[in-house]
Amino acid sequence: MLGENEKRLLLRAASDVMLNAYAPYSGIKVGAALLAENGQVYTGVNVENSSFGLTVCAERNSVFTAVAQGEKNFVGLAIVTDSAKVTSPCGACRQVLHEFAPSLPIIFQNPLRVCEYTLEQLYPAAFRLERG
Ligand code: THU
Repeated sequence: MLGENEKRLLLRAASDVMLNAYAPYSGIKVGAALLAENGQVYTGVNVENSSFGLTVCAERNSVFTAVAQGEKNFVGLAIVTDSAKVTSPCGACRQVLHEFAPSLPIIFQNPLRVCEYTLEQLYPAAFRLERG
């Protein structure tokens, strides 16, 4: 569970970083702010490409940035988008988040609503390789 202060801080960070999204093709900007156990916040934005399939979402970019900095324990994620067409994190991002934090609390905001979930709710019966 995220506290009110954490939610406010993460939503602010996600909304600030969203402005840096590179989305010339869809026109949809997304920002993500991932809170780590160590108190650090790692942000990400969607980065599109003229070869459309190479686009990477904000959520995955926040995870990859955190992992590159040596952090793998996550306690909360905020996602902010400027488009009401985006309604929740995509399946690929759910899978990547699940690798590190299967029950991660997530707060999602678009121009119409704010929703709170856990990753468990969004992605039940997730794919996982058993470690041999
Ligand atoms: N997008 C994200 O960044 N996160 C999501 O969870 C859904 C979609 C981006 C990808 C693309 O740049 C744009 O939103 C439209 O799909």
